[in-house]
Amino acid sequence: MADRVFLFDTTLRDGEQSPGNTMNTPEKLRVAKQLEALGVDIIEAGFPIASEGDFESVRLIAEAIKNSEVAGLARANDEDIDRAWEAIKVAKKPRIHTFISTSDIHLRHQFKKNKEEILNLAVNAVKRAKRYTDNVEFSAMDATRSDRDYLCKVFEAVIDAGANTLNIPDTVGYAVPDEFGGLIRYIKTNVPNISEAIISVHCHNDLGLAVANSIAAIQNGARQIECTVNGIGERAGNASLEEIVMILRTRKDLFGLDTRVKTEKIYRTSRLITSITGVPVQPNKAIVGANAFAHESGIHQDGLLKSKITYEIMTPKSVGIPKSSLVLGKHSGRHAFRERIIEMGYSLEDKEINLAFKRFKALSDIKKDIYNEDIEMIIMDEIYKIPEKYELVYLNVTCGKATIPTATVKIDIDGTTYQDVGVGVGPVDATYKIIKKLVKTNSKLLRFSINSITQDMDAQGEVFVKLEEKGHAVIGKGADTDIIVASAKAYINGLNKLEYLKGKKTGDI
Ligand code: KIV
Ligand code: ZN
Repeated sequence: MADRVFLFDTTLRDGEQSPGNTMNTPEKLRVAKQLEALGVDIIEAGFPIASEGDFESVRLIAEAIKNSEVAGLARANDEDIDRAWEAIKVAKKPRIHTFISTSDIHLRHQFKKNKEEILNLAVNAVKRAKRYTDNVEFSAMDATRSDRDYLCKVFEAVIDAGANTLNIPDTVGYAVPDEFGGLIRYIKTNVPNISEAIISVHCHNDLGLAVANSIAAIQNGARQIECTVNGIGERAGNASLEEIVMILRTRKDLFGLDTRVKTEKIYRTSRLITSITGVPVQPNKAIVGANAFAHESGIHQDGLLKSKITYEIMTPKSVGIPKSSLVLGKHSGRHAFRERIIEMGYSLEDKEINLAFKRFKALSDIKKDIYNEDIEMIIMDEIYKIPEKYELVYLNVTCGKATIPTATVKIDIDGTTYQDVGVGVGPVDATYKIIKKLVKTNSKLLRFSINSITQDMDAQGEVFVKLEEKGHAVIGKGADTDIIVASAKAYINGLNKLEYLKGKKTGDI
């Protein structure tokens, strides 16, 4: 059996379809390139039949990615499979991933089909996919609540039809590790042609066991793990990529298995997902949480000072957490700035570095210490921005205990400046009301969140908003040392995205 585990990343499919994690096409492309650089074996780029936008982003990813396989998801029917192939056929290494449920619960309540009918659909889907490519994965949805012997029968038949990866999803996160490991063993023992396929698992985290179940599967013969960065995904999420990878690396003594992942790129990948989706990682999250390597207790600190091995099972460096988060200040030059950007894992062109450097200088005039997180925000704001119809020109707010919050806003709309003044229940409310009025938007504000990017008193505030208009949802982002300005920037960024979307196909931004 292979002494390596293949990583199938579904951040852009299972992850992206979950609430709050929507990404636009340029963002998906950026994530795909980062996943390729990280070294994942297979990138599930999306579900091409779902919408024109999904199709287009899968196609663009397929075109751009050279060192990872690119998979497109398809239900077990001709139309889905043809569409998936259309989207991924340009890929250097395309994979069709087709799926259908096998549990009695799904068959009875959702599909209203009997077992024989489902088996035929599964076999026909694999045969259809096989007409296009040799690389076909089949998933038995809700496998963990399926009758084991029926599951084995389906797997045997789809392998005969040409599937070379068999995926066993714990779709509803119901299994526990010992039981799940047992299921993998059962399948290995009872599917006669199993040696012709790689066993894969796809675990959801409803009971907090996605990673533990994936590891139990590995111990029982699975060699592909489906996972997502930061563990994002349907409901409680999927198995987290960074945890799986670091378990295998840290406990190589136990598992003797490798992955192709360049672990020093994990942190940067995690940050990219957070900065695109605006969904923060919990501070105590293993591997990538802010506290994952912070030792607070005196006894631990004492031990660490004597020898790192006392309390550190892996180093921050091994997952790419930059050595020093205190980066630069007012007197730092272009060279130091450039070096730091490279260390943080970005590869920018000279003109992009110059653009970012200008913004860095402006920030360092008002903020003493510039941290990696500040630089990250500058890059997101300056380099990865979309065409702007609206620009914030002026904002003045009066607020406090003995005054009615009032905002005066000037916005440039397609080259003409408009202004108005108004009140609200607070400074953000007053500002947003005026922006809404000037821009004449019908969009709805679904979410507003504000965090401090770093810990210092002069830290920048980072605001994320979720806006929705005519079924399209976008995430707007803004950062500034003034949190009302950051809020205004985030709102206007979201409005620009909605505006940009109007000239595009669904899901483009
Ligand atoms: O959770 C699940 O069963 C899935 C399948 C499509 C693999 O996401
Ligand atoms: Zn799933």
